[in-house]
Amino acid sequence: MSGSVTLVGAGPGDAGLLTLGGLRALQAADVIVADRLGARAVLEQLAADGVELGGEVIDVGKLPGHHQVPQDEINDLLVRHASAGRRVVRLKGGDPFVFGRGREEQIHCETAGIVVDVVPGVTSAVSVPAIAGIPLTHRGVATTFTVTSAHDQLEPGGAVARAGGEHTVVLLMGVNTLGHSAHVLASGGRGADCPVAIVEDGYGENQRVTIGTLGTITQLAAARRVRSPAVIVVGDVVRLSPHAASPTASD
Ligand SMILES: C[S@@+](CC[C@H](N)C(=O)[O-])C[C@H]1O[C@@H](n2cnc3c(N)ncnc32)[C@H](O)[C@@H]1O
Repeated sequence: MSGSVTLVGAGPGDAGLLTLGGLRALQAADVIVADRLGARAVLEQLAADGVELGGEVIDVGKLPGHHQVPQDEINDLLVRHASAGRRVVRLKGGDPFVFGRGREEQIHCETAGIVVDVVPGVTSAVSVPAIAGIPLTHRGVATTFTVTSAHDQLEPGGAVARAGGEHTVVLLMGVNTLGHSAHVLASGGRGADCPVAIVEDGYGENQRVTIGTLGTITQLAAARRVRSPAVIVVGDVVRLSPHAASPTASD
């Protein structure tokens, strides 16, 4: 029997946001190669709900020394198991193709002659703001949104920095570079009063919402010891959140 790889988006960490296609792939898998963020929580919730998955789970989110398994090793692991005839699910947080290196893994496997399917997932970029009551677009408030990685650094004078008030900016992986991002966006035309929300650990035990402005958010985040993982939303849509009524609301 020839093996296969299915890239499955686990969503943000709530089993209710795993797709039916994702669940079916997990149930059919011989091997599940799981990330830490999002994926592990979904597997644990499925087990707690009595959903039996027969596949061997390989956790590539961390090793005993707490280091993530390098991408090359993950790629090789997928090819090795699929080449041995196993049905492999690569379970990734959110959506595999949104800052998830999903296409890299797909290309690596296909180059090795492995058939790869993709089951998209619910990205944290949309779902984590939603749990805080923040829509990314809203009639009369925002018509456009950009999802960007703070790793890629917002360029002063660049397209995202210059975008106007009806443009929501969503930052992933942005906690450590929050000060830089807030400065670039404030000086790019939105001004220091533009609302900002940080949603930490969406759908997790430590979910918490911090609301401020581009002018205040860096200090607020430091005072509240905001930590990754978090989704940062910049724009007037933040005012629509119920948390915006009490500016540093915490859940
Ligand atoms: C490497 S990116 C992966 C994104 C993923 N592919 C997706 O579509 O959601 C990791 C970043 O996603 C965000 N993230 C993912 N899950 C999250 C969650 N449950 N709560 C808050 N942020 C989350 C954080 O910004 C984190 O640093």
